[in-house]
Amino acid sequence: MKIFKTDKDGLTEAAEEIRAGHLVAFATETVYGLGADATNDRAVASIYEAKGRPSFNPLIVHVPSLAKAKEYVTFNDTAERLAATFWPGALTLVLPRVENCPVSRLASAGLETLAIRVPGHKLALEFLKECGRPLAAPSANPSGGISPTKAQHVIDGLEGKIAGVLDGGPCPVGVESTVVGFTENDQPVLLRPGGITREALEASVGLVLSHDADGTTPSPGMLLSHYAPNASVRLNATAKEPGEAYLAFGREYDTIADVNLSINGDLTEATALLFSALHFLDKMNFKRIAVGPIPEIGLGVAINDRLRRAAAPKHEKETIGK
Ligand code: TXA
Ligand code: MG
Repeated sequence: MKIFKTDKDGLTEAAEEIRAGHLVAFATETVYGLGADATNDRAVASIYEAKGRPSFNPLIVHVPSLAKAKEYVTFNDTAERLAATFWPGALTLVLPRVENCPVSRLASAGLETLAIRVPGHKLALEFLKECGRPLAAPSANPSGGISPTKAQHVIDGLEGKIAGVLDGGPCPVGVESTVVGFTENDQPVLLRPGGITREALEASVGLVLSHDADGTTPSPGMLLSHYAPNASVRLNATAKEPGEAYLAFGREYDTIADVNLSINGDLTEATALLFSALHFLDKMNFKRIAVGPIPEIGLGVAINDRLRRAAAPKHEKETIGK
C-alpha cells in the first residue's frame, strides 16, 4: 500500500483516491481511521469488506467542523453544548439523520441515527477539507483486532486491502473516541467510554450521564470480543505465570513487567501506549498477556473497557448491555 506524503501534494493524491471510491487510512488523535467517502455506498461497503467486519456495525462519520456536521444530523441543545466544548476532539455524537441526508444508509447500518465527530488532529482536518466529503472511518484494523495507533500497525493489518495510509505519526490519545447518544427526551447516554472522560462530559453538561448498561439504548457493534490480540489476556494479574508476558501500570508490579504502560501511574500516558503495547507483546508470541490492575477512574474506564474486550473469548459475539 502507498504511504502518502503529508504535504499538499500527498494530501491531494490521497483525497483523489477517496473521491474515486477507494479506502485511505489516516491518523486521528485517537486511533488511525479507515476512511471512505461516506456518501458513496460502494466505498462504505468496501470498508466492511477490507475489515471483514459484520455489516450490522454502524460507522463514525468524520467532518471538519460543527457547521458541516449540521448538514447531516440534527443537534439538540445538549449535543450542541458538547460539540462546542469538545470539538475538534475525541467525542462522537449519535444524532438523528436530517431528512435526505446524503450519507450512505450503510454507514448508519439501517438506523435513523448517525455517529459523527470532528477529529482533533491537524492532518485529519486538512485531509477532510481536501476530500470535500464526509469520511466514514472505523478504526483501521481487521475486525476484532487491536486498534492501530501507528501507520505501521495499519500496514501490518490491512496490506493489500486498501489504497494507502496518511502517516501522521503515533496517535496522541491512543484510544477511540467516547460515544454519546441521546434518549427520546434528549438525555445524553454514554454508549462507549473513550478518550474524553465521563467526568469531563458531565462537568460540561452539568448532569449525570446515564450508562448504556441497562440496555435501553441500542449500541450496535459493541462486540464483547474486540481489540483482541492473538494471545489470550488475563486481567487484574498480580503475578506473572510461566509463558506469560506482563503488562504493568504504575510502580507496584514494575519488577515483573515486560512493558509498563506508565511507571508513574499516569492514565493519559497509559492510554496513549495501550494499543502499541498490545501490538508489541502480541508479536512476541507469548501464549498469554497478563495485565496488572488499572484503576477504574477517568481514562482508566476506557482502558479497562478495551482490556475486558481483549480478554473475552473470541467466539463470544454478544452485544454488551443486552
Ligand atoms: O476514535 C474513534 O472513534 C475512531 C476514529 C477513527 O475516529 N473510530 C472508531 O470507529 O472507533 P468504529 O467504527 O470502530 O466505532 C464506532 C462506534 C461503535 O461502538 C458503534 O457501535 C458506535 O460507534 N455507533 C456508530 N453509529 C452508531 C449509531 N447510529 N447508534 C449507536 N452507536 C453507533
Ligand atoms: Mg474499532
